[in-house]
This record gives sequence, structure tokens and C-alpha cells, in this order.
Amino acid sequence: MITYKNNIFHIQGKGFSSLMRINKYGQLEQLHFGEEVEMEDVQALEYHTGLGWGSSILLDDNDLASCPDVIPYVWSENGRGDYRESPLEIGKSMEFKYKCHKIYKGVAPIKCALPQAKGECDTLEIHMSQNGLLLKLYFSVFDGVLTRRAVLTNIGKETVEIQKIMSFMMDIYGDYEATTFHGSWIAEMRDSKQVAQGGRIVNESLTGFSSNQHHPGFLVSEPEATEEYGRVYGINLIYSGNHYASIQKSYQGLTRIMQGISPNNFSKKLQLKESFETPEAVICFSDKGFGGMSEKMHAFVNRYIIPEYWQGRERPVLYNSWEGCMFDFDQRRLLGLAKTAKDLGCEMFVLDDGWFGKRNDDKAGLGDYNINKKKLPQGMNGFADKIHALGLQFGLWFEPESVNMDSDLYRAHPDWALTDEFTPVLGRHQLLLDLTKQEVRDYIVENVGKVLDSANINYVKWDMNRHSIALGTKAHDYILGLYDVQRRVFEPRPHILLENCASGGNRFDLGMLCMGPQIWCSDDTDPIERLTIQGNLSYLYPQSTYGTHVSAAPHAQTLRVTPLATRGNVSFFGCLGYELDLKHLLSLEKEEIKAQIAFYKKYRMVFQYGSFKRLKNGWQVKKDGTAIAGVFRGQVAAAPGYEVLRMKDLDKKKQYSFVNREQKLRVGQFGALIKHVVPVNLNPNGAILRTADRKITMGDGKQELKASGAALMSGIRLLPIFQGTGYDKNQRTLTDFGSEVFVAEEVL
Ligand code: DGJ
Repeated sequence: MITYKNNIFHIQGKGFSSLMRINKYGQLEQLHFGEEVEMEDVQALEYHTGLGWGSSILLDDNDLASCPDVIPYVWSENGRGDYRESPLEIGKSMEFKYKCHKIYKGVAPIKCALPQAKGECDTLEIHMSQNGLLLKLYFSVFDGVLTRRAVLTNIGKETVEIQKIMSFMMDIYGDYEATTFHGSWIAEMRDSKQVAQGGRIVNESLTGFSSNQHHPGFLVSEPEATEEYGRVYGINLIYSGNHYASIQKSYQGLTRIMQGISPNNFSKKLQLKESFETPEAVICFSDKGFGGMSEKMHAFVNRYIIPEYWQGRERPVLYNSWEGCMFDFDQRRLLGLAKTAKDLGCEMFVLDDGWFGKRNDDKAGLGDYNINKKKLPQGMNGFADKIHALGLQFGLWFEPESVNMDSDLYRAHPDWALTDEFTPVLGRHQLLLDLTKQEVRDYIVENVGKVLDSANINYVKWDMNRHSIALGTKAHDYILGLYDVQRRVFEPRPHILLENCASGGNRFDLGMLCMGPQIWCSDDTDPIERLTIQGNLSYLYPQSTYGTHVSAAPHAQTLRVTPLATRGNVSFFGCLGYELDLKHLLSLEKEEIKAQIAFYKKYRMVFQYGSFKRLKNGWQVKKDGTAIAGVFRGQVAAAPGYEVLRMKDLDKKKQYSFVNREQKLRVGQFGALIKHVVPVNLNPNGAILRTADRKITMGDGKQELKASGAALMSGIRLLPIFQGTGYDKNQRTLTDFGSEVFVAEEVL
């Protein structure tokens, strides 16, 4: 709800309030943004200025409360006495003043190609103006989340050059820490915490994309905030290009936060009557800690960001050909894999890179869409039909934004590639196509569309594998071009499940999620790495948005050997898939995978859409009366003590059945210690043990009981862990990187 009275705006969402005031100078002050308060609380929440500000500027020499440098603002400009960072720069002073406002139901549609949150909401639109310029500030309340954006229009007589324009800014009082997420290819989402103090904390990407280096979403929290308690702001941007955010505390104790398009190399000339629209920023406040914030953010993304067709819709368990085959396949090999995938329980077969042109490695073929008939003699249609005949859906990989110099497309249109006046510099042997050009966008839309209509295709993995160069001031236009292309391809085909990807998580952001409901969050599928990647994504994104695949061990990126059980257990908490060569799996591995998929399918909606909680030693998802906890371990410790699992969010009074998912032990993992299990002294390197390892599994500790929600939340005592005293089926025999999954179901 949004109300206005006596120059005060009161924005009220689920669990938060924002109080803003138009002061006597026509400026917008941020009196409060945080826990729910009433309009009448203004008196208590206004700041008492007027102590004398020394060298600072006063708007009115006789009014000590008119010092712009200490006022908490909703929006501020430079050049007139506020020396904190300004969200807008046009090369001269500005003095925007409140002009009028509107409050209405629903969103104000963005006119350019930028995506935005959509659905039921209340919107406040405030118009601020100064000589020649109109600034519209938009505030939309979607349940527990506020979105903000700005639009600047030239209403004067001269061209105006925007050097910087943020989507929002706000000043809030208090001590805060900023958690930002950084990394690189195969190492996305590494968290970094900094205390907001006098120096500016900046989170900015410059690669042309939202990037794996500096993720656009970040958290601002009180130092004492925990998962359950304390004030936490989750902030994100519905944008896939270069982004910028800063957090800085003033001497008076106000922390200024802003976010928008990176001003680096940004410049936009506004001609007469022309407007510039910023991307929409998302601000989610909770006084119930990081968990409370995440829960609201997840609900927001699931309901207002991802395309309507996919909201709440089950995602298939897929098999992807990449890690198993790379470029080395033909129809026979693929069909063999598809058949095995089907037998294991997969529901979709995804043909990744390598199906077109001369694409036998990553040096050629990008840009061409002609099917490689040597690999797929019956064409895409023939191949897709064969996959469907096996009872599987069919998905296909594309990388439409890029071109190899060794491709028919590049030979025909070298000028379509993004280059500068210097020697072309390649990333993964490829150039980007210039999506700011209409003819390039039309080519992609037409040719991807042709392939999609040529066969029964249910899913697309849309990849993009390099950072940009040569975009300069066109970086924003490139991203608008990308949105235009994806909209034109997928809006007429809403039933196609679009999973965006950019060398894994190089473009994981809310903008891409408006285009398609899933993103491949990392090429690193090592489950221990995924604990960081998926765990940190979980602050801002629901599990339905990221693909999580089981791959081979030793792992391709880390060489780490992890139990198959752990690879499954970690991948359950997302949209499950398998990405390894199935041909050489042992029968007992196949049995284990079958059991994993059957388990996942049984609880798919809990895993994909259940409310997600971070536990001390793992994760939990919960939907209706079912809660599932994954407990993940690093390296084993000698003489382990008690282990307790504290579940969350259960009904204290209700009874639950509690059981761990059955996991099998490989005989080979015991080596010479097998003598503790069988009364024979076997050669650990001998044929008997090797054969037994391939054929025989042993049960692991099973814990099955009934307990109240109160007991499960207080902490259920798990079975003891192996401690050098031999195998016992009543203990849990976990090796390094072992893990388990526990299911608690309400007893009716
Ligand atoms: C990068 C992606 O992240 C991978 O999953 C795979 O699709 C390759 N590209 C294919 O070239």
C-alpha cells in the first residue's frame, strides 16, 4: 500500500516500510527504510539537524536544517552542497524539485527493451523537475519487495549529456556490512564482506555483462545480523550489462547505497524530448536476518521475475551431452546415451555444443546454423524425433551472440563482428556479434527461429562465452539488443524452457531471468565448489532458477574425487541434471543414479519451489508438510563428536516421520580395512576386491523415527560417524566430502 499525506509518502510492503518526505526545498528525504512503521511515526523518525555545519553549504543561510551534506535523501544531485556520491551526473549542477506524483495499481511499463518485474503491485511515480529536465522516480511494491527506477527526460532546449545515472539511491542510518560476490570462470559467487565506513565500497562489472567477476546482487546487513535475526537488505538489479553499486557511510552515520548501470565509459546524449530509462533495482528488507530476506527475495523472483508460463512449473530432470562428449559425437553415440539416460529416469536429452557447421572444436563454426549431417544424418528433425521416440523431451544448445572467424557468417559479414581499429582480440577463439545492429539481430532471430521450428524442441541452452570489447559507450545498447533478440525468439514460443548460460555463471542476473526461468550457474559441477556457488546464490535466487548437474569424479575442473551420493545430494537443491559419460558407469552406479532420480522426482516440487533455508551444516527446503535437509561435510575428522541436525520452520506441535535417504557404501572404499568387515585377509590391490567393488554395495546407517517439530528444530542427534572401529550398519560411514539427505514429513 502506498499513501500520501502532508508531504509524506508511506510505502508499506510485507515486512517493510519506507517513509519519504518532501522538504521545504522541494527535495525528497528518506526518513526511514526498514521495519514496518506507521505514517504517524514521522515525528519519531525525522532527523534533528541544526547543530551548525562549519564549512558546509546551507540552502538557506538562516536555516541550519538546510544542509544538503547531512540530509538523508531518496535522490540527490551534485553541485549544490551534497558532497556525498551523486546518482546523476550531467557535467553541471542540478537542483531537482518535487513537481507532482501519482499512485496507481500495477507497473508503469518500461518503454525500451529493458525487462522489469511484472504482476500485481502498487506504484508511486514522483516527478521532480528543474530547468530543462524532468526526472521521474518509480517505486513499486510487490508483496515484501520494493523496486525502484528512474527516467530522465530532456524537456529543455539543449542537448544534455548523461555521464552517470543510477536506478536508485537511498540514505539509511546505522552500522552496516556489505557482502558482495566475486569470482571468475568456474569460481563464481565467492563472498566478500566489508564494513561500510568512510571509504566507498564499490561493486562494479566492466566486462560488458553482469559478469562472473562481480555479481550485481549484494547484501547490506547489521554486523550482528544472523540467518534468523537482524536487519538485512538484499539488493539486486534487473540488468545483464555493466553494473555499479556503492555503499558509503557518512560522518553523520548515514549509509548511502546506490545501484545502476556502470558509469564507466557510459555516456548518453539526450536530444530534445528524449528520455533515458534506467534498469529496475530490487530492494528487499527483512528484520528476520539473511534467511528472512532470502525468503522474500525467492518469492519475488518466482512470482514477478521469471516468465509467467514457467512460474511454479516443474522442471525436467535432464541429461546434457557436454561433459560426457564435448565435440566428439555422432548420432549413434548420442542415441546410446539418450537410451541410458531414459533408463536411469531422465526426462530430457540436451544436445550441447558441436551439432552445426564445422564445429568439431571451439575454433570454428559459431555463427552458422547448418546441421552437421555427418554427425546427425537425418537432420535435427530426424534426431529430435528419435529422442522423442525414446520417451524423452529434446533440448538444444545455441551460442547465437558469437562468431568464429572460421565461419561462413564471418566470411560473409566481417563487419557484423564487434571489433575496434586494432587487431581483433579473441575470447575462446571467438568474437561477439554487434547486437546494436538491427540486421545482426534479425539474422539471429530468423536463424535460431528456423532451427527451433524445424524440429520438436522443448528446451534451449543459450550460451555466451566471452567478455566484450570494443563496446565503449554502446555497452548498454548491446544489452538492449540482446533483450530484443531473446524476446523475439522466445515470446512466440513460451513453452520452450530457456536456460541461459555464459561460460557458466558469467551472466547470472535478474535481467536474464526475465527472459528465461533458468540459468546455468557454473561450469564447475564439483559438488564441494557448488556448495559455495549454490549456497551464495541462495541469498538472492530461488532453487528453481539454477541448473545443478551431477558430473564425473575425478571432477573435470578440480580433479577432486567426491562420492556419487554427494554429487546427487548437492544437485537435488536446484534443477537436477546429469552431465557425464553414462557408457562406462558400473551397474551399481546406474542403480544409485536411478535411486537419486526417483527420489528427486518424488520430492521435485519441494526441491525446486520449497522455501530454502541455510542451516549450520547444510541446506533445507520445505513445502507444505515436507522438509528435506542436506548435510554436507568437508574433510572427515578423527574421533568425531556428536552430530546434531537442527531443522527449521517446522510446526512445533506436529509429529513428523524422520528418515535419512538410503545411501550405499562401495566395498573398495575400505581397501585393506575390508578385513574388519569380512573375516578374510584380502589383497587390497587384488582381483577379488576389485571385482567386489564393482558388484557389491553395503548398507549405511539408517535412522528412522518419529519426532515432534519441536524436537527436530531443537536438534536431532544423528547416528555416530565411523571412528576407526570397523564397519557397523548402525553408524554412518562417511568419507571425505560425504553428505546425507534427511526427510521429515508431517504425520497426518
Ligand atoms: C560453456 C558452457 O558453460 C558449457 O556448459 C558448454 O555448453 C560449453 N560452453 C559448450 O561450448
